[in-house]
Amino acid sequence: MSASNHLLDQLAESAPRHLEELMEWLRIPSVSSDSTRFTEVKQAASWVADKLEGAGLSVEIMPTQGHPMVYAESPKIDGAPVVLVYGHYDVQPVEPLGEWINGPFEPTIRDGNLYARGATDDKGQVLTHVQSVCDWLDSGQPLPLQVKFLIEGEEEVGSLNLERMLPELREKLACDCVVISDSGQYSDGQPAITYGLRGIATYELTVDGPSQDLHSGSFGGAVMNPAIALCKLLGSMIDERGRVQLPGYYDRVRELNPGEREQWAGLPQNDAEFADSIGVEELFGEEGYTTDERRWARPTFDVNGLTSGHQGEGVKTIIPATAKAKLSFRLVPDQDPDEVTAAIEQHLENHCPTGVRWKLEADHGAPGMLAATDSRFVHAANRAIESAFGVLPVLIREGGSIPIVTRFQEVLGCDCLLLGWGLSDDNAHSPNEKFRVEDYYRGIRASAILWDEIGKLN
Ligand code: BES
Ligand code: ZN
Repeated sequence: MSASNHLLDQLAESAPRHLEELMEWLRIPSVSSDSTRFTEVKQAASWVADKLEGAGLSVEIMPTQGHPMVYAESPKIDGAPVVLVYGHYDVQPVEPLGEWINGPFEPTIRDGNLYARGATDDKGQVLTHVQSVCDWLDSGQPLPLQVKFLIEGEEEVGSLNLERMLPELREKLACDCVVISDSGQYSDGQPAITYGLRGIATYELTVDGPSQDLHSGSFGGAVMNPAIALCKLLGSMIDERGRVQLPGYYDRVRELNPGEREQWAGLPQNDAEFADSIGVEELFGEEGYTTDERRWARPTFDVNGLTSGHQGEGVKTIIPATAKAKLSFRLVPDQDPDEVTAAIEQHLENHCPTGVRWKLEADHGAPGMLAATDSRFVHAANRAIESAFGVLPVLIREGGSIPIVTRFQEVLGCDCLLLGWGLSDDNAHSPNEKFRVEDYYRGIRASAILWDEIGKLN
């Protein structure tokens, strides 16, 4: 049996409904990090649970200590492969709100793109698989494999509850391969299969000084300024070329292998265009590596947020009592987030100016991931993507993180297939996030064909 022309025709006919449904889901402001959005996050879980249930899958909303997870499965098919589709319905915060052309939760189509928070990351992408499975079941034909879904609400805050619960979910989630669409194409018109992701370690660093804000005229020159101390500390963590200065930070870093470097060198990278697309005059980073190598396979340090002193209009001459920074380190195999925490503490101990106190709170950590590049699932995905996009995908790694993937590999012992439909200018995590409508449709098509290709494997 194959993803018959009948089903592909049906997908094409259903396109307006597919789009309308995505817009409906996008209207629900499921910002997982915002405690005032608790109810809306739950609504987003119910929305997708209802959608899956309506197509006849058996569905469970699983409570966690935080936001709920949606689990669903199609009927088991004896002797056929089992695939687990993982994705997330939670989204990142939307600020700065003033930068959005339309409201982040008022999905709008402009120039063939659907704009809204979560359009590409990840509601639009995970919904491609939901739509293909629902339409397949709707068509009256049995699926040629069993598909399970796990769509969670805490990916953007580190997936800590899922990680905690994973061992007890082992049997339920048992599968041959996890399929994830929460990444991107290599470039416009060049789809990709992602076989590696960076890990992450995030922190909040606080530097405390005087017991309250002080007049900078009366006290300047007499005390250490916490904002300056924090800047010095942050500056000391990295050199002029972006090498991280923590003790032992590079000790475990797995170097790129020559074959990988050669393969990436064949990708159509263009630094000038890349710089232009993000509005910078020149790129920055570690010497001896290309831009893709630095983004995908080298560890980094970034400041994600910085607060201290007067944030309002005009001048206020104070020495702030405190300064805070939100930090993230992107990690590569085989770095260990806990060892990074210890190295930061050591570095702060060695470099903190006197007269202030530092405090480091670890938020979440996940190791980097590598998956097979020539498994039977990769071959099946090659065929599915080629039929839907008209081009064979290239193999790439990406710099972002999906905290739970390495745990899936360890706990479920399954293969991992990362099929991204997004584009690098989709503005994930930024104002005016978008997803190209055509890529949503192509994703649905590729997904439908993928079930067929995987069904043929056994
Ligand atoms: N979709 C991204 C992961 C991603 C980004 C994959 C870019 C490939 C390319 C995911 O939703 C995400 O943003 N994850 C967070 C995790 C963090 C908050 C723990 C990330 O990478 O910052
Ligand atoms: Zn994200």
